[in-house]
Amino acid sequence: MRLSRLAATLKEPATLRLNAEAARLKAAGEAVIHLGGGEPAGPAPAAALEAARKVLERGEVKYTATPGIPALRQAVARWTERQYGRPVEARNVLVSAGAKPVLMAALASVVDPGDEVIVPAPYWVSYPEMVRMVGGSPVIVPAPEGEVIPRIEDLRGAVTDRTRAILYNSPNNPSGAIYPRDLAAGLVDLCRERDLFLISDEIYRCLVFDGVQAVSPFTLWDGAMDDCPVILVDGVSKMFGMTGFRIGWAVASPAVIDAMNRYTGQVLSCASPLSQAATLAALETEEAFIENLRIALQRRRDILVGSLSGLTGLRVPVPQGTFYCLPDFSAFCRDSAALSEYLLEQARVVTVPGVDFGAEGRLRISFCGTEEDLVEGARRIRWALDPAAPETCEFGGKVHRRDRPVPGP
Ligand SMILES: Cc1ncc(COP(=O)(O)O)c(C=O)c1O
Repeated sequence: MRLSRLAATLKEPATLRLNAEAARLKAAGEAVIHLGGGEPAGPAPAAALEAARKVLERGEVKYTATPGIPALRQAVARWTERQYGRPVEARNVLVSAGAKPVLMAALASVVDPGDEVIVPAPYWVSYPEMVRMVGGSPVIVPAPEGEVIPRIEDLRGAVTDRTRAILYNSPNNPSGAIYPRDLAAGLVDLCRERDLFLISDEIYRCLVFDGVQAVSPFTLWDGAMDDCPVILVDGVSKMFGMTGFRIGWAVASPAVIDAMNRYTGQVLSCASPLSQAATLAALETEEAFIENLRIALQRRRDILVGSLSGLTGLRVPVPQGTFYCLPDFSAFCRDSAALSEYLLEQARVVTVPGVDFGAEGRLRISFCGTEEDLVEGARRIRWALDPAAPETCEFGGKVHRRDRPVPGP
């Protein structure tokens, strides 16, 4: 059977692969702690559930207009105006089945085969693969050694005649970093000068800590909406914990939205009307939900960072947003895939290897789970890696023995 070249090389998302592995171990009765997750625990906002239920009761579950029901496009426009402080109309909005298809539609609308898209590292796992899926070449621009925020001069230096877009993600998955205002402003200038698109994935925008706010390139664009090079990507998956509803959206110039609409019409038709109704209700009535989630996540961040800090040699940059932390484990092992496997095997803790995010030597650790899991997961990681720790550790009702050394180098 001959599959495409793309199929032969397309990676399974590391996070989904690890979810499957954790589920397998749990089913086998192992006391697995999952610190690899990408969604807040707990139910969706009550108003969202109620709105979806009402649509089901009416039984009118049919196709909607491709870019979303008019009321939802309006609500997203109002939401965006409140968040970013600039006028937005419903015609600037396209709703789709999650931020992922929105990103694909954006890339398909601005990238031709052979074009380059700049991807600052550390990056979210799917970006390079998405660029390849539309026939483009991802150009990875790493942050300086030991850091997680790329430099504007390095990003500028990566632009060629074939560059069409830059993928921007702040607050950042996997590092939890918020990019500084200068970087956002520098990229807006660069896009203006070189006629590039800035695809700004701001799905974690509301989940920020210590009073810090991410300055968005969308806010910094001072020209007309019709000429805006920023394609803003957002959705309900993270801020409302509504991952399974599968709703994301783009806010962009009408020309870009029109292209994304034609693409979405061919591959998706529309997002589910149940989920659109749920999203409308969440946006209109559930802002307090986001604030409660934000406060809970900030507390969990503090617990995780505090619990990991007992391990000598580990460098833990304190996340300013999201629910991920990207500690530098290179003092223990530079091979993050081997280290992640070792921690799963010895400590039964799921982490995601940094190599999947262009951040070798680091592991992504999520703090969206329970506080007990964070404390216990960090305790097991310390035990598995600390050379001075006792040979044995009790968890899941059993005594576990470290039966192999930490993989080198
Ligand atoms: C940076 C980033 N963008 C997009 C997504 C995908 O969002 P959705 O579930 O709405 O497709 C994720 C999910 O992990 C993410 O971390």
